[in-house]
Amino acid sequence: MQEIIQLHDKKFIKFISDEQIDEAVSIIAEQLNKDYVDDQPLILVTLNGAIIFAADLLKKLQFSSVLSCIKLSSYEGTTSTDNMKTLIGLTEDVKDKRVLIIEDIVDTGNTYQTMVNLLNEKGAKEIRIATLTMKPDAYQLDLPVHYVGIAIPDKFVVGRGLDYNGLGRNLKDIYQLFTEE
Ligand code: IMP
Repeated sequence: MQEIIQLHDKKFIKFISDEQIDEAVSIIAEQLNKDYVDDQPLILVTLNGAIIFAADLLKKLQFSSVLSCIKLSSYEGTTSTDNMKTLIGLTEDVKDKRVLIIEDIVDTGNTYQTMVNLLNEKGAKEIRIATLTMKPDAYQLDLPVHYVGIAIPDKFVVGRGLDYNGLGRNLKDIYQLFTEE
């Protein structure tokens, strides 16, 4: 049976299972454990969406790291906008540091570009990004997205930290916007 849920005025259908997501998280953790061995990067988690992915991922990381959070917002309802707001800024010194951004999703890349600009301005030595999901068809940048858990179509999703106007973050599976034909 298809699993459909309702959040506010919209219906969503189960799209990626808990197990698939856990496996994607483990694969990213393995890659990071190789790439950051003997290093101590600053791990920059983007609030609110990435906290669940970050918590799952960090438990699997074997290298030492410093954790910090940043909160930017460009989304209104189910659409990304160019109007980027900094709700919580950078609090750690990033000068000459390797920075690993943790994202729940990379969509157009606007948020990522804003963070890269900010981190470059503050003198970060290296900037990489690990994202649980990515919409390659919506991505508009030339910047590499270094660690991608699951590539998805350009359709709105919720669950595992991703929300629709505040709801859905707690869902353990990922759900896709459901449109009745
Ligand atoms: P970008 O700046 O367009 O790459 O979008 C990044 C941010 O938009 C993410 O961190 C999310 O907060 C939000 N976002 C993008 N796509 C989705 C989606 O399908 N569901 C929920 N939030 C999304």
